[in-house]
This record gives sequence, C-alpha cells and structure tokens, in this order.
Amino acid sequence: MEQFPIFLNMANFPCAVVGGGEVAYRKISALLKAKAQICVISPEVNADINTLIETKQIDWQQQNWQADSITGKRLVVAATDNNQVNKQIFEYCEANNILVNTVDQPDLCRYTTPSIVDRSPIVIAISSAGMSPVLARRIRAMIETALPQSLSGIAQYAGSIRSKIKSKLPTIDLRRLFWEKFFSSSIMSRFEQMADSEKTSLVDNLIQNTHEQGEVWLVGAGPGDPELITIKALQKLQLADVVVYDRLVSADIVNLARKDAEFICVGKQKSLHMKQQQEINQLLVDLAKQGKKVCRLKGGDPFIFGRGGEELETLVEQQIPFQVIPAVTAAAGCSSYAGIPLTHRDYARKVTFVTGQNSKAGDEPDWQSLIHPYHTLCIYMGLSKAQQVQENLIKHGMAADMPVAIVENGTTQHQRVVTGILSELGQLQQQHNIGSPALLIIGQVVKLHNSLDWFTPDRQENAGAFKNYLAEK
Ligand SMILES: C[S@@+](CC[C@H](N)C(=O)[O-])C[C@H]1O[C@@H](n2cnc3c(N)ncnc32)[C@H](O)[C@@H]1O
Repeated sequence: MEQFPIFLNMANFPCAVVGGGEVAYRKISALLKAKAQICVISPEVNADINTLIETKQIDWQQQNWQADSITGKRLVVAATDNNQVNKQIFEYCEANNILVNTVDQPDLCRYTTPSIVDRSPIVIAISSAGMSPVLARRIRAMIETALPQSLSGIAQYAGSIRSKIKSKLPTIDLRRLFWEKFFSSSIMSRFEQMADSEKTSLVDNLIQNTHEQGEVWLVGAGPGDPELITIKALQKLQLADVVVYDRLVSADIVNLARKDAEFICVGKQKSLHMKQQQEINQLLVDLAKQGKKVCRLKGGDPFIFGRGGEELETLVEQQIPFQVIPAVTAAAGCSSYAGIPLTHRDYARKVTFVTGQNSKAGDEPDWQSLIHPYHTLCIYMGLSKAQQVQENLIKHGMAADMPVAIVENGTTQHQRVVTGILSELGQLQQQHNIGSPALLIIGQVVKLHNSLDWFTPDRQENAGAFKNYLAEK
C-alpha cells in the first residue's frame, strides 16, 4: 500500500484552490461539503465559483498564484492549466509542509482524493493511488448500487441513540451484541417506512433482550506435545473464563490458559469416567448460559473419536453459539514422532482411523474392509483389545507377519514405540507393560520406523536430534 487512507476533519481547515475553471470548481465543491475554509486564487473565475464568492461561501484572491498567497494554508489544490505553475505550487507546498494535490498529476501530489460513496456519516473512499481513476469510479458505482440509500439515516439514527445504549448496557460486550442485533434487524430494510415510535420500541425490545451471551469453544489440544497446539487454540485458552478439560490433556497445555480462569477436569479415563457424557454436555450448556466463554479442551482433534459432535449437538439444541478449533490427531502426532509415515508410495496408499472400542455392544468393525495390501490402520483406544484385533485381522486374511507398532504417550517425553508383527500384537502390550494412551499402527509403513525414528532418546544415531529437540523446548 503506497498511500495511507485517512479521513481529515476539515472544519475550519484553511485551504486554497489555485485556478478558477471547471476543475477548480469541482474541487471547491467537494471541500465545501466537508466545511473547509476555502480561498480561491485566480485572476478570473467561472460563473459557478463566482456565485460561491458572492454568497460568501469562499474567499477570493483575485491574482496569479505567488508564494505568499498560500501562506498559512494547510491544504492546497493546484488546478491551473499551466503545468509549470502547478509544479511551482507543489514544490512550495512540499518545502512548507502543506498538503498538496495537483489535479491529474499524481507525481505532484502529497495526497490524492479518492472516489467517494457518500452516505454521511458513512463515507466509503476508493483509491487507485492515481493509477486508474476510472476503475476506482467503476468500483464506486458498484458499491453505490449495493448499499441502501437509507444507510445515511440509519447511521444518524444509530448515532442519536448511542448515549441511551451506553447508559442501559454497561459493558462493551453487551453493547457490541446490541449493535449486532440492531444492524441485522428489520430496521435495515424498513428504516424509511418506520415511524419514530416503531423505531423506539424496536430499540427498547433489543435492549431488553441483550444479555451477556456465553459461548463454547471446542478446542483440540493435540496429542501431547504442547508446542503442537494451534495459535487459535492458544488464543481461545487465553480468552476463556472456564476451561473444561479431559484427563488426556497434559498439564502443560492446561497451564497455557488464563491464570484466573476456572478449571474443571471432566476425566474421561476408560472405565473411570469422572463425569458421564450427558453431564459434560449439560455442564457446557449451563456455563454458557451463565454468560461464560467456555473452552472445552479435548485431547487430539475434537472431531476424531472425541465425542465432540455429541457435545455440539446439545449446544445446538440449546442455541448456544460455538466454534470448533481442530488439532493434530493422535494418529498424525504419534506416527510423525515415531518416524512412521502413514502413507508412502511403496507401502501404503490408504490410511484408516478406527476405534478399538464400540459404543454399542456387538458393534464390531467390518474387519474384512480393513484388510488391503497397501493400507495403514491406526487403531485408537485399541490397547486393551490388542489380542482381539490380532485374531480378527488374521482370521480375515491379513498376513500374520504384518508389521505393527504400539505408540505409548506419543509426542511426549515419555513416548515409547514398540514394534513387532501382527501375530504377537496381543503379547506386546503385556511384555512391555504398555499403558494408556497408546495407538496401534498396523501396516508395511511400520518398517520405516527403524530408519526414520528421530525422536527416541536412546537411539544412538539419533540421540543428538532428540537432545536438540529437548534443548529447544
Ligand atoms: C478418546 S480417543 C481421543 C482421540 C483424540 N480425539 C485424537 O484426535 O487424537 C483417545 C485415544 O487416542 C489415542 N491417543 C491420544 N493421545 C495419544 C498419545 N499421546 N499417544 C498415543 N495414543 C494417543 C489413544 O488410542 C487413546 O486411547
């Protein structure tokens, strides 16, 4: 942006327009609208300018331009038909810190005047920085047709009720809410037809119905490493009045929230649900109805095996506004930190995320559909079902020597990666005493772990990389 747009308060601002023809008249008219104090400098003026002089709307110095004729002026328009004179005016103004515009000579302008859509007090200015005034005028025409003519009246009316709104609604948030409702109400389309009494009762109604409104942000915390959370998640954490978090979310991430926020842990440990899902859904509704900004913080991505959808359905029923902030899901985080690419042109063209837990009894996965030669399976919540997973996949035709990995506490400093083959999947957990959370990765891509592992601390060849990583943290 080469030109910085500003709106100047022109009231009693001493200005000079040098020139007395049609172009000068247009510039004078525009400045007059903004109540500038105008002096026209020219030996002769046209009839229109003369009328303004006679009606004492502007002053006239009936002479050729000379330096002292613009002394004390703060803005000058050079509108003579003599380029040499225009150049002298420009140079004088520049040397004396006077804003100057030379008509049709962008290189002799300190400021340029934009094309204007005027629905005062709403004014829209369009500039092409002198490159294409015709294009700017076309854009202006488009905006003109898109905006209601009543915009001016609406804006003036809004200005007239500002102090009333300020006295009735004490906080900025409430006032913002009021104005949002006001500008999406019928006043926008019916302003001209509405009687004053109707406008007043609409405003009173809106005031009465403007309450501090709560909101829920369903935020993904990622798989563990706090540095994997998104900037948006961090912003929400720092704005929230209450943080409702799952046990899987690490303390390092919860601690990123505002220190004076309220913190509620709602558990979600297998077979140790501290709160039932229904209770969590209701808690979110209750907190939002109290006008709170609620950060519902969930491990990984809220929409991947996170029951985020269920929580939102309750919010929709109760008309609570919400946003969803996605995050790195366990499969993406664990596989990256284990050096196991989920897809690879030689080993896997497809990846499936599947849960090891079934919400309804007997609701088994379609094992057959999970078996493909170039395929990676990521099984969430599958640790306690490792033996059944092994048996079912082999029963439905997967090779018993298919590589498998279990990633425990992926992306954290406690990450462990145990690899083997499918026929020993069930034993691996017991042998290595693997605990939750853990992700099962099954497929040829697991072979790459040995060469691509960059994160495991005790790997001699990669120890340096891991230390660097920790040092950076
Ligand atoms: C209820 S699901 C939640 C998944 C989460 N919404 C996500 O997108 O990652 C919990 C399961 O995710 C997996 N998981 C989550 N975080 C993990 C981690 N850091 N390491 C290994 N597995 C993890 C485990 O399989 C765990 O049982």
